[in-house]
Amino acid sequence: MELNKLEEIFQTIYGKKNEFSFFSPGRINLIGEHIDYNGGLVFPCALDFGTYALVNLREDNKLNFASTNFDLKVSCDLNNLVYTKKDDWANYPKGVIKIMLDKGYTVKGMDILISGNIPNGAGLSSSASLEVLTSVVVNNLFNDGKIDRVELVKISQMAENEFVGVNCGIMDQFAVGMGKTNKAILLDCNSLSYKYADMNLLDYSIVIMNTNKRRALNESKYNERRAECEEALKIIQTKKPVANLCKLTPEEFHEVEPLLTKDNIKNRAKHAVYENDRVISAFDCLNDGKLEEFGRLLMESHDSLKNLYEVTGKELDSLVEEALKAEGCIGARMTGAGFGGCAIALVKTDKIDSFTEEVKKAYTERIGYEPSFYSSGIGNGTHQIY
Ligand code: GLA
Repeated sequence: MELNKLEEIFQTIYGKKNEFSFFSPGRINLIGEHIDYNGGLVFPCALDFGTYALVNLREDNKLNFASTNFDLKVSCDLNNLVYTKKDDWANYPKGVIKIMLDKGYTVKGMDILISGNIPNGAGLSSSASLEVLTSVVVNNLFNDGKIDRVELVKISQMAENEFVGVNCGIMDQFAVGMGKTNKAILLDCNSLSYKYADMNLLDYSIVIMNTNKRRALNESKYNERRAECEEALKIIQTKKPVANLCKLTPEEFHEVEPLLTKDNIKNRAKHAVYENDRVISAFDCLNDGKLEEFGRLLMESHDSLKNLYEVTGKELDSLVEEALKAEGCIGARMTGAGFGGCAIALVKTDKIDSFTEEVKKAYTERIGYEPSFYSSGIGNGTHQIY
């Protein structure tokens, strides 16, 4: 929705013009999946669609939240911020504000209108977008913009882990908060050191493909994978002192592999180690303009997530298989947590139209409903518009 339309809606809801507005992107991850919580390297970038916040200050301690995406409006008091199931989406901003208050930062009453154009439940980080958005609103309006950006990223992850109760890693919040136009971020999730790479895709583009698989109960699977990786690490640590799975090179993993006698545990660990290795190669390929090689790494990543990590499912697999059959596509993989949601494809820019047509037709025949396609620029991290 256009900003001026949102300003009208704000005025209708709150009876006044908004003074401030902010934007926070969604993200895709190019490669490095399910390894942020294994101390690995990830390679995400921020999108140019995301979430807006229009804000006014209040004289009291009230927080009013409204959204153009959901009917639900939520009002609460700054001194009594607790997770409530019925508050649904508003628990994300509530959680961030609660954690910032607990850490001693200043927060005052606000009227807020949220509006997102990230498809909900598509795995493009609509929740991280909203969390980091809230932290930047609070930083800029009440703390002179002085809180370090990485601290805001950590607060946002903490809100999701501790307030909402989702045990995610740090990749999404980091990508949303630290994104830069036309850059991908190589992030070491262990040390939080990072560097940017130019998204120089020559005559190729990234196409985002949504399976449109209805949101299922994935949370338990996500936590199950985390637990399996922890189990693998514990076993490996009985023979080799290593802080996390991604500290192992493929050669080192080969030596300890016989210790992992359960197939699922071995496979999860193997994915983590080799995926981390692929991220290092992918970063080099992108820098050196070796896009065919980059595309091949995307395919290897998807295969590993399908066969070793088992987080894809028939919708994502069909979408990726059909994408790879289409002319002009040199690589594709799921992105995000998996079990549905989105995949990305690296496609010759002048073939995008025929590509989407072919993939749409073939996927619909196989799955029974249509996928969606988005093209997005690589945008900046969360920022104030005015
Ligand atoms: C979700 C989580 C991230 C990360 C990805 C998988 O998006 O929020 O922390 O674990 O899944 O790479």
